[in-house]
Amino acid sequence: MKTNDMQVSGLEGVVAAHTALSGVDGEAGELTIAGFPLEELAPNASFEEVIFLLWNGRLPDAAELATLRASLGVQRALPEITLHLLRELAPLRLPTMDALRIAAGTLGIDAGEDGPMGEALAIAARFPTIVAAYWRLINGEEPVAPRHDLGHAADYLRMLSGTEPDASRVRALETYLNTVVDHGLNASTFTARIITSTDSDLVSTVVGAVGALKGPLHGGAPGPALDMVFEIGSADRAESYLREKLARGERLMGFGHRVYKVRDPRADVLAEAAERLFRDGGDMALYELAKHVERTALELLEEAKPGRRLQTNVEFYTALLLHGLGLPADLFTPTFAVGRVVGWIAHAFEQRRTGRLIRPQSVYTGRNDMRWISTASR
Ligand code: ACO
Repeated sequence: MKTNDMQVSGLEGVVAAHTALSGVDGEAGELTIAGFPLEELAPNASFEEVIFLLWNGRLPDAAELATLRASLGVQRALPEITLHLLRELAPLRLPTMDALRIAAGTLGIDAGEDGPMGEALAIAARFPTIVAAYWRLINGEEPVAPRHDLGHAADYLRMLSGTEPDASRVRALETYLNTVVDHGLNASTFTARIITSTDSDLVSTVVGAVGALKGPLHGGAPGPALDMVFEIGSADRAESYLREKLARGERLMGFGHRVYKVRDPRADVLAEAAERLFRDGGDMALYELAKHVERTALELLEEAKPGRRLQTNVEFYTALLLHGLGLPADLFTPTFAVGRVVGWIAHAFEQRRTGRLIRPQSVYTGRNDMRWISTASR
């Protein structure tokens, strides 16, 4: 790659890690999670099974699954200091991703003596508790304590709403969490591997990764994607709305991807899960409107950016599915983090086992003829 290309490219096409965790084939539109096609794993496995798979390289047997489920359940309770911090942060009304980043930094304090796996369990278990507790606090409600007999996804929904969810809602959330759990060397996972490669600790790794995930070009798009559907409001307004947006040079959120040049396979898995959820008593009219907006957006993107192969990405149906689960848009990216933290941890383990310090080079493009003079002479 030429110097000039590298400055503008964002490293596309550069291989920076070998991983057995997930494989992304952007031309074929395929995602493999630790050996399983996404379409096979995501709608069928529990989230705990996928956690075990990514951290151990195989699916658990029944006893291993029960042990993991119980350990996560016990670990979901927040350390006193974390809860105290969330109470102090709530009046500041920071976005939930900022509160998650700050509170995640406290998770190493009582990591105990269980080594890296104990730390990993504590972090993954407590992400949903932090998000739910903070969300309730900023809405003037007391946090709901975790229940260790429930599964991870079910308890997350219960800690948010205060009510135990039915099986179809839990299945929908598990499908979502499984779908976003890992995705090659995306920006936040690369961040996680870089931090781990310096021999830093797991808490620092996930804190850095949360910071990378929150940007709108990575994990922050589903809120705006849903806003767009709501602003359009009815199918007959879709074309004019989207045309005007593109004419102003704006991007359509939920479309385009650095790697996928055909449809993002995660969009299909989530579209199916959303359809099931909405048919099961949701707002089918909204689902149909979103489908229409998607079709229109794809036609107009092809017209406005011919040859760019801009397709629907994961965020579009994420928005619809999470909305169908009753989550407000402010919780979309934090919920993404609840799933992806498991992938970050798996990459940290893999990086520790197989990787080296990640330290690329930069090309200096500044001057080298400057001389220091005192402030009085400047
Ligand atoms: N709407 C309109 N035009 C777009 C879009 C879009 N959503 N995405 C890309 N383009 C256009 C760009 O304007 C550019 O056109 P130009 O060359 O005529 O200037 C061309 O397509 C290529 O765009 P790049 O920014 O170079 O492509 P990149 O690979 O960097 O983009 C990205 C990937 C950032 C995701 C982009 O498609 C985007 O901004 N999409 C909207 C935000 C979004 O949905 N993000 C979530 C991504 S999924 C995830 O991270 C989990």
